[in-house]
Amino acid sequence: MRKKIVAGNWKMNKNLAETGELIAAMKRNFENALEADIIIAPTFTNLYYAFEECKDLKVKVAAQNMHQEEQGAYTGEVSADMLKSIGVETVILGHSERRAHFGETDALLAKKVNTALAHHMTVIFCFGEELKDRKNKEHFSLVKHQLKNGLFHIKDEDWDNVILAYEPVWAIGTGETASPEQAQEMHAFIRKTISEAYSTKISDNVSILYGGSVKPNNAKEIFAKPDVDGGLIGGASLDAKSFVTIANAIS
Ligand code: 13P
Repeated sequence: MRKKIVAGNWKMNKNLAETGELIAAMKRNFENALEADIIIAPTFTNLYYAFEECKDLKVKVAAQNMHQEEQGAYTGEVSADMLKSIGVETVILGHSERRAHFGETDALLAKKVNTALAHHMTVIFCFGEELKDRKNKEHFSLVKHQLKNGLFHIKDEDWDNVILAYEPVWAIGTGETASPEQAQEMHAFIRKTISEAYSTKISDNVSILYGGSVKPNNAKEIFAKPDVDGGLIGGASLDAKSFVTIANAIS
């Protein structure tokens, strides 16, 4: 079912003590009944702690990555089963930083998606163009390509466990956000692409988040667009007040 969602991707920030402080500050700030589902994605070492701390809140905890294999000789990696065993049922896959710094390809991401879905996890699937793609007017075809190659092999019923996050790379951590019109234009295109590959029932039901320099002062305008169902927040999710203000910008 299509939902309003605000998710915080903490990236490689916050040690254990800082994670505790941020969650405590979030708890103090979550006074109002929120319209949106809230997800936070701390780093692996703090996931179990975060899960325990957030149990009594309307906040889900997600991992930022996951390995595609079930288990075995993959030093340094974390499996779906390990995440599920500590209560983590949601995983971010395909973030542009994973694609750029860790060589994650569409083909690899397709495997990770399969593993997560086989474990009945929810996937937050990230994708988005670089500045050069937009300058060359190739942003629509690039996004379509990423969706087709990383995700469009899944079955109709799998879409219930997928959240999309459109994150134009040029807007991530740069302070330069896509305009609400640019976000809406791309989100409508994404929905159309899904309806062509699957059905309008599926494209109408999927939540599509926008990510890239969402801040308390621009969230309301972006979230007001009809095809934007919320946000995946980086920098501003590391400050409780900013994150809660952004979460409250959903109406
Ligand atoms: P910023 O909000 O810091 O631009 O990061 C967005 C992001 O990458 C979320 O996954």
